[in-house]
Amino acid sequence: MAKRAKPGARETALDRVVAVVNDKGGVGKTSLAANLGGQFAGAGYRCLLIDLNRQANLADDLGYRGQDIDDEGAGLLASILTGAPLRPAQDVRPQLDVVCGGSRLEDLTPVMVSRLQHHGRGAFRALGDVLAPVAGDYEVIFIDCPPESTILTDLALASARWVLMPTKSDLGGLLGMTLVAERFALAREINPGLRLLGVVLFATGTGARAIQGEALAAIDDAFGGTSPRFETTIRHAERTAQDARRLGKLAHELEVEAAAQPAWWEELRSGSRTKRISATAASVAGDYRALGVEVLSALQAAENAEKPRRRARRPRTTP
Ligand SMILES: Nc1ncnc2c1ncn2[C@@H]1O[C@H](COP(=O)(O)OP(=O)(O)O)[C@@H](O)[C@H]1O
Ligand SMILES: [Mg+2]
Repeated sequence: MAKRAKPGARETALDRVVAVVNDKGGVGKTSLAANLGGQFAGAGYRCLLIDLNRQANLADDLGYRGQDIDDEGAGLLASILTGAPLRPAQDVRPQLDVVCGGSRLEDLTPVMVSRLQHHGRGAFRALGDVLAPVAGDYEVIFIDCPPESTILTDLALASARWVLMPTKSDLGGLLGMTLVAERFALAREINPGLRLLGVVLFATGTGARAIQGEALAAIDDAFGGTSPRFETTIRHAERTAQDARRLGKLAHELEVEAAAQPAWWEELRSGSRTKRISATAASVAGDYRALGVEVLSALQAAENAEKPRRRARRPRTTP
């Protein structure tokens, strides 16, 4: 079994754990977790991504599906079953580790149902218990939550300090958010430190300001009061999203590759048939960068307000 943390030590270890949550699928949870984690790691922060999805889309976005490190969720399942600390796969990118998701997580739901019956909602603390012993190795930890899976999302909400919620401005996205608001209130009964870090509008057309206003008012309703929201929105860019999953590359990696590819006329002259990477990758990468800066300053502002409990965290290396 994991060593029992001193009172308060578990919470301090978990104070940079951010759950990326929305009950609706397709609103950008996985893209945000992967790209923010990837860019933070690229900037020198030690970063961990935890994938709670049975479909493990993070494996596609980071390009490790089917590779040796891809245990399809077996390690995460075993840790929750035995209480042994998580053992993240190291360096999917420099400074970026992952706890893989996948089909093995299907066995987690019945285990949690039985624990809930015996121990009540406190059973949801299991993920935090196995994460806390390794959490100190990282400056930021993102949990990529699944859609429509109460139990796995509740595990994340009971372990995280922060919720980052992507949403689209359509009705479906807003409905998912209302459900999260209800869960969020329940999770705070066992995890009183849980806070909403902010809401991000994802894949929203730049001309959709009016709809965005409505969306944000609905978010305030759902969380009861004015919710923190990030100014940055991630632009709608289908080709970049397709390039990303096809190649297993993050937006800022595509940005570098797009800049290095031969000019289109050279390809036309040489008769090359390789698929070109969309130049929009640079703009999307810029959106994630701007969001990353906002996320870090929101974390730092909250931590400064709570000093001296917090320790200072800075990137360990310069890229
Ligand atoms: N900037 C973008 N514009 C349009 N579509 C995007 C963008 N980024 C990602 N996508 C696509 O949107 C879909 C949902 O994104 P994803 O991050 O998987 O959402 P979730 O994890 O909430 O289900 C995916 O097919 C993804 O490729
Ligand atoms: Mg996802």
